[in-house]
Amino acid sequence: MNSLPDQHSKNEYKENDKPPSITPRLARPWRVAVLANIKEHDKPLPPDVPPDAGADFDYIETINHIRAALETDGHWTMFLPADSNLPYALKAAKPDICFNIAEGLGGDAREAQVPALLEMLKIPYTGSRVLTNAIALDKTLTKRIWRDRRLPVAPFQEFITGEEPLRPDLRFPLFVKPAREGTGMGVDVHAIVNDESELRERARYVISMYKQPALVETFLSGREFTVAVIGRTDARLYSRHPEWYDADGFHRFPILELDSTRSVTPGVYGLQAKAQSIGAEGAPGYICPAQVEPDLAKKLQHYAWRAHHLLGALDVSRVDFRLDRDGNPCLLEINPLPGLTPAYSDLCLIAAAEGISYADLILEILYLGASRWGMLEPREVPPPLPKKRG
Ligand SMILES: Nc1ncnc2c1ncn2[C@@H]1O[C@H](COP(=O)(O)OP(=O)(O)OP(=O)(O)O)[C@@H](O)[C@H]1O
Ligand SMILES: [Mg+2]
Repeated sequence: MNSLPDQHSKNEYKENDKPPSITPRLARPWRVAVLANIKEHDKPLPPDVPPDAGADFDYIETINHIRAALETDGHWTMFLPADSNLPYALKAAKPDICFNIAEGLGGDAREAQVPALLEMLKIPYTGSRVLTNAIALDKTLTKRIWRDRRLPVAPFQEFITGEEPLRPDLRFPLFVKPAREGTGMGVDVHAIVNDESELRERARYVISMYKQPALVETFLSGREFTVAVIGRTDARLYSRHPEWYDADGFHRFPILELDSTRSVTPGVYGLQAKAQSIGAEGAPGYICPAQVEPDLAKKLQHYAWRAHHLLGALDVSRVDFRLDRDGNPCLLEINPLPGLTPAYSDLCLIAAAEGISYADLILEILYLGASRWGMLEPREVPPPLPKKRG
């Protein structure tokens, strides 16, 4: 890893000043801090947490891959753990920008904790801001917003006590999951419930184990897809790869299908399935680009883009879908902090499937974020759009 020169005398800024990046614009290379929560296998889990607590945290190897990718463009990098020491570590390290992948620690909106802190300290960072990260973690709130704007979601009901009367329009089988987790936590084959007693048992389990509401939805029995978008209206003014972007400033990645038919948890892409090595027995099939009718592909990409906008997501996100029994796509959730483990995380598989290198993906997320904070000079004229194929 590149060492970190102390170039901060020239970037020094006082509290309550504007972010240092805006005036004057910082010369590159930048000091980039990768912020993340790391898996700590040697530490016993505290009492009172679910058995899969921390499953969404990252391996240190992923941080090293991100740092190496950032360094390919000359930046100095560091890793700062996103724990309660982070405010002090940030003050000491004085990064120019943070590459945020932190999942956060506890509370009802943990993925918004680090963005909130960075906003308070006026430190530029990548990706979505506080409100989006908070709402997107809560699948019920997210679905209410999408439903309000006519995006297709499965009928649902939130259970807070587990004793609520079941709404009559919810027909078995149903699917029960924690309302505010990710990485398939709290999701396995027992999430599918076939009658009222299974429903009550599972809802009570989720509520007491995960200390949050249980989201109960119609079970969507069809194929599963995940669809990523990257970009912004003015992305071509700042991108290293303006040719990636459509006229609206967004790049539509190819659709990834998750085939759980032969996975360890048949029909459910939960934590245990996600943990299997790709290609191993019991792993889901990862098919990218997915073989789908052009009509369905268009719908999935349009819904993913709308879903991103409606939640105010910035620069990059991944939206998960399943088809209902009639083949209609329904949105499950949005991930404004998609996993970034090379050759493993869905977004990395998707990018690789169309020949986008890991370093290019990471640097694109960095520069899209940095440009929002005024850290990059825009091109004066956007480069011409690539010619449409076909
Ligand atoms: N209503 C549903 N019907 C059928 N399967 C579902 C339903 N909701 C969730 N699933 C299954 O559970 C998995 C995990 O659900 P979901 O994507 O909502 O949660 P997550 O843990 O936040 O996912 P991620 O790992 O993408 O953060 C889905 O990928 C899908 O296989
Ligand atoms: Mg998901």
